[in-house]
Amino acid sequence: MDQTIIINGSHRAPLSNSRRYTKYLMKFLKTDSTELLLNKNNYDEISKELFSAQTAILVFPLYVDCIPSILLGFLNRLEKLGEKYKSRPTVYIIINCGFIENEQNEVAISIIKFFLKKNGFKYGGVLSIGSGEAILDSPFRGMVRGKIKKMAQAIEHGETICIKTQMPISKWFFVQAGNKYWEIKGSSHGKTKIEMKTMEIK
Ligand SMILES: Cc1cc2nc3c(=O)[nH]c(=O)nc-3n(C[C@H](O)[C@H](O)[C@H](O)COP(=O)(O)O)c2cc1C
Repeated sequence: MDQTIIINGSHRAPLSNSRRYTKYLMKFLKTDSTELLLNKNNYDEISKELFSAQTAILVFPLYVDCIPSILLGFLNRLEKLGEKYKSRPTVYIIINCGFIENEQNEVAISIIKFFLKKNGFKYGGVLSIGSGEAILDSPFRGMVRGKIKKMAQAIEHGETICIKTQMPISKWFFVQAGNKYWEIKGSSHGKTKIEMKTMEIK
């Protein structure tokens, strides 16, 4: 039976935005899929699952303009273990970043594409999400859900796809709304705007 696995490459996988995207994807996929949360102790176990799957989806955030180190470590391990395995799944990517522009994700996407090519994996495509931290709690959430549905259909049909999305608002408005959000969040934890601008903030 065809196996589809979804690997969460966020450092805060259990509580991550990547996981929220995964939940939608699993809802839209008609075939059975398994969600796997990466941590530094399960690289081998997840690699084994990946090599026996027909389709794998890497769901991860952009961290410091790059892929999260937990995912980087996993790819390093996968490359080593790959020598033992002949079969390779088709790999799709769902990446989300905090800034509004989905272009921020381009370098990280190129890194994954290069890795896949070098290691003999078929690249299935990408859903690149800008404003990924905010969009799911905004009036635009339907937009991103629609894109995930489209991605799920492409995965099921084995099609190659490239979708990019972000909030349809100006950068200025996004920054204003972001500042307001963090101000309210800080205040709910007893922190002022000035305190939040210091390095002492936890
Ligand atoms: C350590 C760290 C570094 C980040 N670096 C970037 C960045 O370079 N560019 C960006 O747009 N967002 C950046 N973000 C925002 C995350 O991409 C965004 O919050 C994302 O939704 C986190 O997804 P997750 O909950 O699945 O980890 C960063 C977040 C963290 C915690």
